[in-house]
Parts: sequence; C-alpha cells; structure tokens
Amino acid sequence: MVLSQEQAAFLVRQRVARLATADGAGRPHAVPVCFAMVRASIYIALDEKPKDVPVSRLKRVRNILENPPVALIADRYAEDWNLLAFVMVRGRAELLEPNSEEHTAAVRLLRGKYHQYEAMRIEENPVVALRPEKAASWGALDEPESPEPPILDTIHGRRSVRRYLPKEVTEELVERVLEAARWAPSPHGRQPWRFALLRREETKERLADAMGEEWRANLEMDGQSKEIVEKRLESSRRRLQDAPVLVLICLYLEDLDVYPDAGRQRGERTMAVQSLGAAAQNALLAAYDLGLDAGWMCAPLFCPERVVEALGLDPKLVPHALLTLGYAEGDPPKRRNRKALDVLVVYRD
Ligand SMILES: Cc1cc2nc3c(=O)[nH]c(=O)nc-3n(C[C@H](O)[C@H](O)[C@H](O)COP(=O)(O)O)c2cc1C
Repeated sequence: MVLSQEQAAFLVRQRVARLATADGAGRPHAVPVCFAMVRASIYIALDEKPKDVPVSRLKRVRNILENPPVALIADRYAEDWNLLAFVMVRGRAELLEPNSEEHTAAVRLLRGKYHQYEAMRIEENPVVALRPEKAASWGALDEPESPEPPILDTIHGRRSVRRYLPKEVTEELVERVLEAARWAPSPHGRQPWRFALLRREETKERLADAMGEEWRANLEMDGQSKEIVEKRLESSRRRLQDAPVLVLICLYLEDLDVYPDAGRQRGERTMAVQSLGAAAQNALLAAYDLGLDAGWMCAPLFCPERVVEALGLDPKLVPHALLTLGYAEGDPPKRRNRKALDVLVVYRD
C-alpha cells in the first residue's frame, strides 16, 4: 500500500481535493475535484457541471493524455492551527472509458459519496483513475473532522472590517443577518431593541452629517488641532458612505418592566443594553458565516437625539450601535490579540 492507514483514513473523510496535472511541456494546471477512493485508486468524475468545453477538451483531460503523472492534495484548514493537515498523493492518471467494470464500480463509489451525482449522467463520461505511487502528509491527520463546533470557527474567524468594496449586499443576506439578531437572548424575552436599515447614499450622508457635527464639537473640546479634526471626520464619513449597508441598533425600553426603585430600574436598563450587545454579536457572526464582513461603530451612542432627528425615527428609540455590512476591501491591517483565559478567568473553585 502506498498510503498509510492514517493517510488513507484522512483522504476518505475529505469532500474535496486539488488535482494537479501538467501538459507535455510541464506547464502546471490545478483544479478542485470531488473524488472517491478505494484501495489502490482514487476516482474523479468528469461531470456535467456547467463548463464551457466538452469533457474531452478539458485541460486536465488533455494533460493526463499527454503526461500521465499527476498529484492530488487534500487538506484541512482550521483557525486552530494544531488541526492543520494535508495528504498529497503522486501517481499516474488514466481515463476509464464507460462500461468497463472498473468504470461502473467507480461511478457507484462516487454516487455513494456525493448524492449530487445521482442526478448527473457521470456514467456517460470517462472517469479519471489515479494510481498512487507516492504519498506525503503533514499535520494532525487523526483529529476528528469537526473537533470544534463550527460556531467556534466562525467566532475565531470574524473580525472588524472598516473598508469595503463597492459590491452590493443582497436584501436576502441582510434579512438573514437580522434574523440572527432577532434570536438574541433578552431580558424577559422582551427584545428591547429595534433595527434601522440604511442603504441609500442620501440617508447615509444625513446620518454622517448629524454624527459629524457632534463629533466635531467633542474633538474640539478635547483640544484637537483643526487638521486632525478634519482628518478624523473625513475618515469616519467615508466609512459610513463606503459601507453598502448600515444597521443602526436602537434600544427600545417600552416593553420592559417598571420598578418603583431606581436600583432595579437601572438593572432593567442594563439588561436591555447587554441584550442589545448580544443581538449585535449575533448579527456580526451571522454576517461572517454568510460570507459578509461587518464592523461596529459606537458613534450613535454619543449623539442619540441627533441620530433620531436626522432619520426621523420614533423618539422612544435610543440609537446605540451602528453595524456596517459589506465585503471587505482587503484583510484588516491590525492583528487582533486577545487576553489569555488565565487572565480573564479570575476565579475557579
Ligand atoms: C461596543 C463596541 C463599540 C465599538 N465601536 C467601534 C468604533 O466606533 N469604531 C471602530 O472602528 N470599532 C469599534 N468597535 C470594534 C472594536 O474596535 C473591535 O471589536 C476590537 O478592536 C476587536 O477587533 P475584532 O472585532 O476585529 O476582533 C466597537 C466594538 C464594540 C463591542
């Protein structure tokens, strides 16, 4: 056996791999592939997913015919780098023509692994058979595939984004982000928050103007130079304008319990604010999971009345947080650090 048991077990669990081929002149080519494996062979269907050339003209097929040596690599990425792993197999590839015994068995195997192939006529096309000659691997091959709940991967992967591409965000995605916010925990289940959605340029501009005035006054009060004030205001305004969608999260206290004493009333309000944070975090995580990026701006908290006035909102709403949504222009420049749990957990018994 070319592959160790550990390597074979890892490969069998993977849903996707990359197949590298080269033409007669050695020019490389790589594509992601679905594959199935049995004993000494790895099979790859030439399926009817939309492609602009017949299977016989596919670059990988031509390369295999010209130059049978190929490599296939499957890997696992996780935010916890102790879990990284890959297996690379090198060998020769050949094309199995339809109706041979091995072709039939390979098609059955591929359909067993990917139900999507049931509805595709893969039996009419050749199947690529890779005969492994060498294998190499690295990392934590033996770890279970989902040692972390997927939510932890989302939590680790999410980051605050402050610059966006001018790419539109669909209504459907925004609704799904809000749906996640809707399910946040809240005191007595009262959901003491409301959302305002801002997309139009003029609306975003009105909000930026309103918040800008307050911020200008605050910065001047802090004794910042005129130049710095203008620079910071401009960058904040650009952030609002560049983000395709803004979600303003407001506190809404009308449904909460009323107490005769100030202490309990304060507690009630604090719970509402805590819950608003949970709704915001639900939204940020859902956005990240949906392939969007998001950021959090606290500016409305410092001028809630101005924001209510600028947008014509119900005066019972208290604007607290502004979430920006869109597609990141690039990776954020700042590296995030977190305090260690040893620091954060101050008591264990
Ligand atoms: C209540 C709150 C207010 C925030 N306000 C701002 C803000 O006004 N501007 C900003 O750039 N980031 C703001 N952030 C984002 C934090 O700076 C960011 O979460 C932190 O630096 C950690 O980075 P990460 O979110 O990428 O993990 C805020 C976050 C929270 C929770």
